[in-house]
Amino acid sequence: MGRTSVEELAMLAAQGGGRAKVIAVASGKGGVGKTNISANLAICLAASGKRVALFDADFGLANLDIILGVNSKYNLSHFIKGVRTLDEICQPVCGGVDVICGMGGLDGLVNMSDFARERVVKSLEQLAENYDVVVVDTAAGIGKNVCAFCMAADHTVLVSTTEPTAITDVYTLLKTLTIKDYAGSVSLLVNMADSVAEGKKVYRQIAMAASQFLDMKLSHAGVIVKDEHVGLSVKKRQPVVLEYPRCAVSRSLMTIAARLSKVPVDSSAGSGFFKKVVNWLF
Ligand SMILES: Nc1ncnc2c1ncn2[C@@H]1O[C@H](COP(=O)(O)OP(=O)(O)O)[C@@H](O)[C@H]1O
Ligand SMILES: [Mg+2]
Repeated sequence: MGRTSVEELAMLAAQGGGRAKVIAVASGKGGVGKTNISANLAICLAASGKRVALFDADFGLANLDIILGVNSKYNLSHFIKGVRTLDEICQPVCGGVDVICGMGGLDGLVNMSDFARERVVKSLEQLAENYDVVVVDTAAGIGKNVCAFCMAADHTVLVSTTEPTAITDVYTLLKTLTIKDYAGSVSLLVNMADSVAEGKKVYRQIAMAASQFLDMKLSHAGVIVKDEHVGLSVKKRQPVVLEYPRCAVSRSLMTIAARLSKVPVDSSAGSGFFKKVVNWLF
């Protein structure tokens, strides 16, 4: 028997009306694990049957390529210059994920006419329609670029370690997003904790400050402990969830991905992700 239209509608609503859900991964401080987390979460989400794109928005460094063992020859700037098609800059990598290397791309939009910029944005929106989820690996810091990607995302995963410097920086980023009236939801992922208990303590500390001083609900994405398997897999240029699927880090990443796949998408939100990013940038 076929699906009733009510069931079908509920399914479409759950998928956010066909629009890709955009999850930005950000931190304030560098070196806290954003790139490893983005790549591995993307693979976990793809393993659960979702069509996933991983957008590299850390324009300065090509870290995603290293972690995933690929050499992206083309990036967004090649598309903007018109020398490559969008399909050619989407590189299928391990685990059924497509990587889109944003390197240098958005800078190229500055000198464009409004018409040409609109065309690029429209093409990116069409590309995003091919996916259920877009995971965005952002750069460190709280600069305009990072904020633009977070502000345009449906959900931002803030990553911190248990170190005071990382905690301060992640709080500053959360404060910046709150001041800009971020409409999406935010969760905190504590990485490289000595134990799950230590990680949860840091989560509670930041969530309490966020609630008290920013009136912001910060949900708990999860805790990832410090684990030598991460370093070993980076050396092999393989994502840890594929190389060591049974280690503690991989199990946590699977749980966190399952949690993130339940984050709702506001399908009434007018314009698409890339249009919003460009609006925040210019
Ligand atoms: N849970 C973890 N356990 C051990 N090492 C980790 C863990 N997460 C990340 N790392 C290591 O930390 C370093 C920085 O990670 P990376 O993902 O490049 O951070 P970012 O993108 O935030 O700069 C890498 O050397 C990585 O292997
Ligand atoms: Mg990185």
